[in-house]
Order: sequence, then C-alpha cells, then structure tokens
Amino acid sequence: MTYDPATLGQFTITATDGAARRGSLVTAHGVVQTPIFMPVGTQGSVKALAPDDLDAAGAQIILGNTYHLYLRPGDDLLARKGGLHRFASWNKPILTDSGGFQVFSLKDIRKLSEDGVEFRSHHDGSKHFFSPEKVMSIQNNIGSDIMMVLDECVAYGADYDYTAKSLELTTRWARRCRQAHPRHKNGQLLFGINQGGFFKDLRERSLAQLAEIDFDGFAIGGLSVGESIPEMYDMLHHIAPLMPRDTPRYLMGVGTPLDILEGISAGVDMFDCVLPTRNARNGTLYTSQGKVNIRRAEYREDDSPLDPLCPCYACRTFSKAYLRHLYVAQELLSYRLNSLHNITFFLTLARQAREAIEQGRFAALKAHYQDVFAPAKD
Ligand code: GUN
Ligand code: ZN
Repeated sequence: MTYDPATLGQFTITATDGAARRGSLVTAHGVVQTPIFMPVGTQGSVKALAPDDLDAAGAQIILGNTYHLYLRPGDDLLARKGGLHRFASWNKPILTDSGGFQVFSLKDIRKLSEDGVEFRSHHDGSKHFFSPEKVMSIQNNIGSDIMMVLDECVAYGADYDYTAKSLELTTRWARRCRQAHPRHKNGQLLFGINQGGFFKDLRERSLAQLAEIDFDGFAIGGLSVGESIPEMYDMLHHIAPLMPRDTPRYLMGVGTPLDILEGISAGVDMFDCVLPTRNARNGTLYTSQGKVNIRRAEYREDDSPLDPLCPCYACRTFSKAYLRHLYVAQELLSYRLNSLHNITFFLTLARQAREAIEQGRFAALKAHYQDVFAPAKD
C-alpha cells in the first residue's frame, strides 16, 4: 500500500455542533469521514455481504477481530497472502479489535496474568496465550489500518478494587503495545482503550494514564456490557468530553441508532456494532419509519418497499411481501438483502449526522430519530 507518511494518522475537525464533531482521519487505505459507523467483519467478512455490497452501502471502513482471525485462518497465513485487505479483496480501511474483549467473554476458559491472558479456542479447546506484544504482532500480520491495544474489559458489576487494579493492568499493557509497535510502523495506527467500569474517578484515571502514551486515537471500552441505558449514557457523557480533542474517539461495540446519535452528541467519532447484521439475520430491520419485524404476518401481501426512502438494492427492487417470504422460507438471499439494507441504514444515519453537524442542526436530527425509534413505536 502506498500512503503519505506525512499525513498518515492526521485527524482534522472541519465542523462542530455542540459537542458533536465532523472530521476526517487519514489511514494507509484512505481517508475516513467521521462520525462513522464501521460494519463488523469478525472473520474477514461482513456476514452475508461481499465487498461490492459494502461499497454500494457506502461503507468506508470495516472491523475485523484479532481473536477470530488468529484462530482461523491464522495470522501467519494472512501474512503469506499479503494481509487481510488483499486476501478479502477489501481495499478500504480496516480496524482490528485486539482480541481482549473476545477472550474475556470466554469466561471459564481464560487465565489472566501480568504478562497476558491464556485462553482456550472455542473451536477445539486448544490452549493459546495473548500478550500485548503477541496481539501487536498478529495485527501486524493482518495488516489492519487501525490496531487496538490489548485490554481487559471488566464485567458489569465488578467492584471498585477489582476495576481499579484492572485498569492499571490495561494501562501497562497499553504501554507495552506502544513499545512493541512504534508509531506508524507498517503504516498502521494504534488506539488506546479507556476502561474503569462504572466508576467515574477510575474512568478519569484510566484516561489520564493513556493520554500520556502517544496513541493515534482513543476508544471507550467496557460499555454496553449489561448496564441500563441511563447508566451507559451517563458514563458516556462524563468521559467522552474529557478525551483528547485532537484525535479520534471510538465507542466500542455500540450500538442502536439512538445509542450512536447519543455518542455523537457526546463527541464520539467512531462506532461499531454487530446489531445491524445480526438483527438482519433474524428479520429485524431498521427503517426511516422505525423498526420492522419482517417475519410478521401483516407483511404477507404487502407490495410496498421496506423503506421508500432507502437507496439500497433490496428497497429499490423488492416488496415487503417478498422479503417476508424469503425470511420465512429461510432462503439465503434473505440474509444478504436484509444485511445490505440494515448496513445501508446505519451508514446513511452516519452520513446524515455528518451533514447535520456541518449545517448546525444535529440536535434536530437526533430529536427526529428519538421520535422514530421511541420505545412505544417498536
Ligand atoms: N468491544 C466492545 N467493548 C470492548 C472493550 O471494552 N474492549 C475491546 N477490546 N473491545 C470491545
Ligand atoms: Zn434498504
């Protein structure tokens, strides 16, 4: 990949509206316009979608997972194939999560120490070890544009003492990641991850420690782990404004359309979530009129498009009755069309947010969607 080392990692804010930011981030595979939603491609594929579909949906950057790609097909194989971009024929930016979150959600099959985390593969039970240095080396082999540090995502309900010790470990691991991956080596950016559970002083301590390390951006981890929405929004609004202003802010694993708009209003620039693709596969579709459960009998004879305002191929071409039929018949095309639609919806939402920030009407856009997705209208 050819890129200009002089501009790599540059984050430029071109407009603000309240705390919301409109920006652009330079990566080795192109410039990402923010705020942005990143479709999740855990195993090197956004489930049911080909790169052509992602292009059509307007995807700028997708996410991959270190844990999954390390186990299968293996990062050594990816390196031999010229990295994930080339292997998967995706020429735009890729962000990889570090594997910390996935390993920690394995619960019984992990062992934590100062040096890293031992875990067993969910495929065959084989033993593996992730250290900060190892996850840097794996992400180097994957060749992602944005790499994440190894962190411990503390479980919801963890007490103060555990959470305090954990965030210090996450900071030490973050320093080791930075040392193992000097700034912009291979053209790859590196982001730190804020932890600290649901204790504001611990979140601040984590952030202060991370901000001393020279990262290209900072993420908020450890949210959307089982807490209530008010708890999540409270912590989000507390910590996001304290994050460095001049680098991108990334809220990991979040969320619904309303969560994303809330994050943007708090000054977050990047989001990822399995929600649009996972929900697509179980027939829950996001539209400009609210959520649609395409499996419902009321759509049996419905000739209208899923969303008359959506530019996606599914909405331009098929009726709700046909999409319902595909879902009920468990046809494979159902997964593709529903995923294409939901990803288009989330990327359209991000684009609308960027335009609204530029035009100083972000609060009105957020209020509009709060009405569209009001709980009573589910
Ligand atoms: N994805 C969602 N939350 C987290 C987190 O806390 N850490 C990491 N590494 N990934 C996440
Ligand atoms: Zn559509």
